[in-house]
Amino acid sequence: MHVRILTTALALSATLTAMSQHVMEVKTNKIGAPVQSTMYGIFFEDINYAADGGLYAELVMNRSFEFPNHFAGWDISGKVTLKDDGPFERNPHYVRLAPSGHSDKHTMIENHGFFGMGVKGGEEYRFSVWARVPDGGKAKLWIDLVDNATMDDDQKLGNAGVDVSGKEWKKYTAVLKPKRTFDKAHLRVWGDGKVTTDVEHISLFPVKTWKGRENGMRQDLAQALADMKPGVFRFPGGCIVEGTDLETRYQWKNSVGPVENRPLNENRWHYTFTSRYFPNYYQSYGLGFFEFFQLCEDFGCEALPVISCGLSCQFQNPDPTKPGVHVPVDQLDDYIQDALDLVEFANGDVTTKWGKVRADMGHPEPFNLKYLGVGNEQWDYDEQHGGYGPVFTERLKKFNAALRAKYPYLKLIGTTGPNSEGWDFDLLQPRMKELKVDLYDEHYYRNEQWFLSHGLRYDSYDRKGPKVFAGEYACHGRGKKWNHFETSLYEAAHMTGIERNADIVHMATYAPLFAHVEGWQWRPDAIWYDNLYSFKTVSYYVQQMFAMNKGTNVLPLTMQGKPVAGQEGQDGLFASSVFDKTTGEVIVKVVNTSKQPQSITLNLQGMKGERMAETLELWSNGKLDDENSISKPELIHPVAGSVKCEAGQKYTVLNDQLPAMSFRLYKVKKTK
Ligand code: AHR
Repeated sequence: MHVRILTTALALSATLTAMSQHVMEVKTNKIGAPVQSTMYGIFFEDINYAADGGLYAELVMNRSFEFPNHFAGWDISGKVTLKDDGPFERNPHYVRLAPSGHSDKHTMIENHGFFGMGVKGGEEYRFSVWARVPDGGKAKLWIDLVDNATMDDDQKLGNAGVDVSGKEWKKYTAVLKPKRTFDKAHLRVWGDGKVTTDVEHISLFPVKTWKGRENGMRQDLAQALADMKPGVFRFPGGCIVEGTDLETRYQWKNSVGPVENRPLNENRWHYTFTSRYFPNYYQSYGLGFFEFFQLCEDFGCEALPVISCGLSCQFQNPDPTKPGVHVPVDQLDDYIQDALDLVEFANGDVTTKWGKVRADMGHPEPFNLKYLGVGNEQWDYDEQHGGYGPVFTERLKKFNAALRAKYPYLKLIGTTGPNSEGWDFDLLQPRMKELKVDLYDEHYYRNEQWFLSHGLRYDSYDRKGPKVFAGEYACHGRGKKWNHFETSLYEAAHMTGIERNADIVHMATYAPLFAHVEGWQWRPDAIWYDNLYSFKTVSYYVQQMFAMNKGTNVLPLTMQGKPVAGQEGQDGLFASSVFDKTTGEVIVKVVNTSKQPQSITLNLQGMKGERMAETLELWSNGKLDDENSISKPELIHPVAGSVKCEAGQKYTVLNDQLPAMSFRLYKVKKTK
């Protein structure tokens, strides 16, 4: 960690004469609205190989042979046949490995993983398979982890044997220890050679997963989430909640219980963008609702499930009158029941149907669910836009009535659709108030100019209506859609407005969260990875700086009586301030979005005498297109330092000079 001592002398350097001093008043005795414990959060959706091939640590793709192309991801050789009367009702396919009749003609299947399998030399990997010998007796399976590209004599990175016996299906396990690290390994399963053997649900996980769980998460990625100190965790999306059609919506009940029997679902992101087409992208549901609640518990944050409201994706189904596209309003019962059952799964007593499913999965204690989102990006239509009427809100009403009747403590979240302004937003925002939702979900993927000009977005919001959940947002550079420094800086600027309006904005989750460098469909994203390594983007660090320094209460901060929000005459400065009752610290965040250095003075009203302020800074030294990457994961990261605050005549004063295009955060103990 680099430490930069910023003295008053530096702050008042020669350049100062050429610049105007920006004097900000921070009223440290005026403790304002509480900052909600749900700030700031994470948005998870299985996009960009975020679940399978990402956070979910399974290395085998199409482990149950249920992809429409049943051998997708597999090479087969010898006498391999597909069967469909396997032990798992909802995943009935399996593979029969029969002897070829000649000892040199091997029967073998080889899995390619997700863009290969990342394995680390000397670490352990748990192989498992459900198998049987259909004719009775014993058989041996050989398992190899291989490097097909090697120049070595031996392709094998590691191997193990599994003894299978009897006609009954049983689970067998073995541990493989690759001799070296390789990011593109394949897994081979060799048939016995003499005895026919049936195999199903072939799986390989690192032994070292997050918290060592067998159906576990990739350690580095789960740790990155924990390090964000999230206040809320939204799951499972995103558009994935809705489905391209009703059949392919996310059905939480399919994502719980034994993993072997969780049915496969299509992943809409495999085909949504034909320019980034991933035909082998499906959802195994191995990371399902139980694992989600468990992660929330690990992170100490609130769970925020979002469920289908009976409308399939409205972008993909523009004509809601088309039969079969949406659930008719009078036929929503099963969907509403799904929502009620989800709450029972999370919170119900172990004697309830769904509470027992949770208990059988190893968690008899309730998960203490408090929030539920109904619908993702849904909207109503007015006469100028289709004239189909209140297709979303009429459904939402029904969900709300049933959920409120049974679970009055639950906080319900509606939505203002995919846009943060415009006719659909204007139609829905008042309707959310009429329907008395507790919060509504706003989405904004917008360009630089939008972020720079919406610093006051929340200052004018109706304080008597529902609270805001900024459920998906990111600055998408005009013509440059990646995680470069400049757009992340504008997100920081915008977040000062979120922080200042803590009384109305109760949740905010940057989106999307994850992306595989070889398998992405949408960028920017917060965390990227390949099969072995991951890195945090500047946007991630912005989120983390706010989350780890969110304080407990807002403090008023103004410049010439106005909020500092990039307003005219404010020279591109954005700022906000909070107090942390637990640490006694005043925390000020200042973002300089101008291409010039800016001098600032913070008048810390209510404080006297000298102090040292700790600082944390994000800066790219003028290289606005710089970004972190697998090869340079820490090119831009928060840098700690300190700056001296003066005694001042009336109160403590902090003078500083912010580099052009930088974000600096100050923490000063209020009492010495
Ligand atoms: O975050 C990616 C997508 O953006 C989400 O699925 C959707 O809600 C939004 O349109």
